[in-house]
Amino acid sequence: MSKGSFITGTDTGVGKTVVSAAIIRALIKKGVKAGAMKPVETGCTPELRVKSRELRAKKLIPSDGMFLKDMAEMDDSLDLIAPVRFEHPLAPMVAAELEKRPIGIKKIIDAYEALSKKYDFMVVEGVGGLLVPISKRQRAKGKRQKAYFVSDLIKDLKLPVIIVARPTLGTINHTLLTVNQALREGLNVLGVIINRHMPPTGDIAEKTNPEVLKELCPVPIIGMLPYVEDITKKNIENTAIKHLEVTGLL
Ligand SMILES: Nc1ncnc2c1ncn2[C@@H]1O[C@H](COP(=O)(O)OP(=O)(O)OP(=O)(O)O)[C@@H](O)[C@H]1O
Ligand SMILES: [Mg+2]
Repeated sequence: MSKGSFITGTDTGVGKTVVSAAIIRALIKKGVKAGAMKPVETGCTPELRVKSRELRAKKLIPSDGMFLKDMAEMDDSLDLIAPVRFEHPLAPMVAAELEKRPIGIKKIIDAYEALSKKYDFMVVEGVGGLLVPISKRQRAKGKRQKAYFVSDLIKDLKLPVIIVARPTLGTINHTLLTVNQALREGLNVLGVIINRHMPPTGDIAEKTNPEVLKELCPVPIIGMLPYVEDITKKNIENTAIKHLEVTGLL
């Protein structure tokens, strides 16, 4: 099996996809055969002409999955890269219920295993944060829980975790909560990447938060990704090479 990292975040929209792409481009630039996966994607766009519910589910376009496929230059099917997709922009457990398609965790694990045989390093983007429910009551590691969470998927995929955090006001609380929950669950947390997902405003919180996090966080801050004006493969790659040290992941 290949090496890899699971990219989670302190929240949705903090830049997991952009950071995943940056890690992939930096690894590829170092000659590593890096692959990507977005195991569950919600908020997918349906192909408009498809009307039947069953076919519609098959034709959902996963924007994160497609972006990562392009960044990693993979020739694999989207059915492996983004095997579980929903139309509603909701937590997977809720979208699955609304769209009446239960999520099979085995499908995700099989897709991951197939890809990880082919790539030296897999970058797996989570959905939302650690405690986003993926499916309803299932056994996780022998104990009965109300839901199977993203953190359970991380355990099943046996991957170390990188937490993406934003630099703006509120991030100290969100980051420490996420890091502490991950550690409490026994996850192998490689560290936090602070991502500037918005143009800098000059706000005092944004300026001081990285230092405060370095001081208070029980795991290392392994990177700071600046705002990338124009999100293209080349720009992400150039920024990643300059600002992210990925050798430690290998
Ligand atoms: N470093 C960055 N520079 C410029 N724009 C960024 C950066 N990071 C994120 N963004 C932008 O912020 C938005 C959210 O980022 P992204 O899609 O990566 O978040 P996410 O955590 O993957 O969200 P989701 O939970 O929906 O998967 C996107 O429009 C993205 O282009
Ligand atoms: Mg994303």
